[in-house]
Amino acid sequence: MKLLLSVYGLLGLVSAAALQPRKVSYDGFKVVRVPVGMDASKVTDIVSQLGLSTWKGAPQAGRFADIVVAPEKFDAFTKATQGMEVSVMHENLGESIAQESEFPDFSVAAVNSTWFNAYHSYADHLGFLKGLQQQYPSQSEIVTSGSSLQGNAITGIHLWGSAGKGVKPAIVIHGTVHAREWIGTMVVEYFAYNLLTNYASSSEIKGFVDKYDFYFFPVVNPDGFIYTQTTDRLWRKNRQSTSGSSCVGHDINRNWNYQWSVSGGASTNPCAEDFKGTSGGDTPEFKALSSWLSGIKSKQGLKLFIDYHSYSQLFMTPYGYSCTAVSTKNTELQSLARGAVAAIKAQSGYTYQYGPICSTIYKATGSSVDYVNDVIGSDYTFTSELRDTGNYGFVLPANQILPSGQEAYAGFRYLLLNMR
Ligand SMILES: *[C@@H]1O[C@H](CO)[C@@H](O)[C@H](O)[C@H]1NC(C)=O
Ligand SMILES: [Zn+2]
Repeated sequence: MKLLLSVYGLLGLVSAAALQPRKVSYDGFKVVRVPVGMDASKVTDIVSQLGLSTWKGAPQAGRFADIVVAPEKFDAFTKATQGMEVSVMHENLGESIAQESEFPDFSVAAVNSTWFNAYHSYADHLGFLKGLQQQYPSQSEIVTSGSSLQGNAITGIHLWGSAGKGVKPAIVIHGTVHAREWIGTMVVEYFAYNLLTNYASSSEIKGFVDKYDFYFFPVVNPDGFIYTQTTDRLWRKNRQSTSGSSCVGHDINRNWNYQWSVSGGASTNPCAEDFKGTSGGDTPEFKALSSWLSGIKSKQGLKLFIDYHSYSQLFMTPYGYSCTAVSTKNTELQSLARGAVAAIKAQSGYTYQYGPICSTIYKATGSSVDYVNDVIGSDYTFTSELRDTGNYGFVLPANQILPSGQEAYAGFRYLLLNMR
């Protein structure tokens, strides 16, 4: 036993040094959109019988299901969906991913708006924050909200205005807790870039930054995000193992330890995309993010928290764990959310829906929003699903980064202008 262990240990070392993890190939895979109809069981059966994966959880009655189909399953899938209006999101997912992953050269010393013309490696995201910070050394700093399971710092940028740092109420923005939602990273970075680069020239932006301390964390699930770039572009969870299962990953955004045990809003199956963890709050990322938030709240107060996701074009409020529980601030939150989506529409013409998570998208337990609203006690709490509504889904073309950032900023700006 001892010998075996050490041989395996040695092999592990050798292979870790010599081999990169093999990339999951999506060459020839299609992503298709199917109207579910009023009885969800038909599409649900097709998905389970053919062993397909979906992009937005279980098929829901009256909505669309976005389904990934491997080449060897095309024939069976076509047969099973005969008579349904199937549309194609990605003709060849592997090709779409390859295009998206052509990361351009990047220089930390010359951070500029061309950043928003493409997606980037995780190392370059850290470089972008560093380079941006170095351009504004007197009003920004790099911060970390603790560490991930694998020891990656959950890195962000903190901005402040004329009062100096750490004085004004905090606004905290999270992106990419779900690793494959790359547009979230870019949008959160756009906010930081927009505020810093326009502080001197825009009295409105100066007003925002003088009034609040901003903390932007573009990637709160660094282990998962790195894994989407080394190994599997469609990875969602963290990289935590579960005893008794060979499946890896806990869904950090089903693990926040508030109303965690309510049933029906997450999976108890370690292989599922929305696996809630073995106990409430058992992800290192939850522990790190929540204790950091609670520290900020007691130090500066927490005015606003937003968790950015993709995709579906939604702007949502508490709660996820229940469709009947109503937040004490519900009237004001709905009014702000309604204003934010109107501002988004005015900016880009894109339509976002708004409302409480549970009734707008689905029941979800253990999400950051419910926890931050009720346990941390942020004055205002939202979560948004960014573009699109199902043309490209997670693999959103790079020419939509800048318009996504601009429209999301329009919604954010509405909140900054209208929060009490
Ligand atoms: C803008 O950034 C890109 C990427 O880092 C860099 O190649 C380019 O030189 C920069 N442009 C300017 C004007 O600094
Ligand atoms: Zn998400």
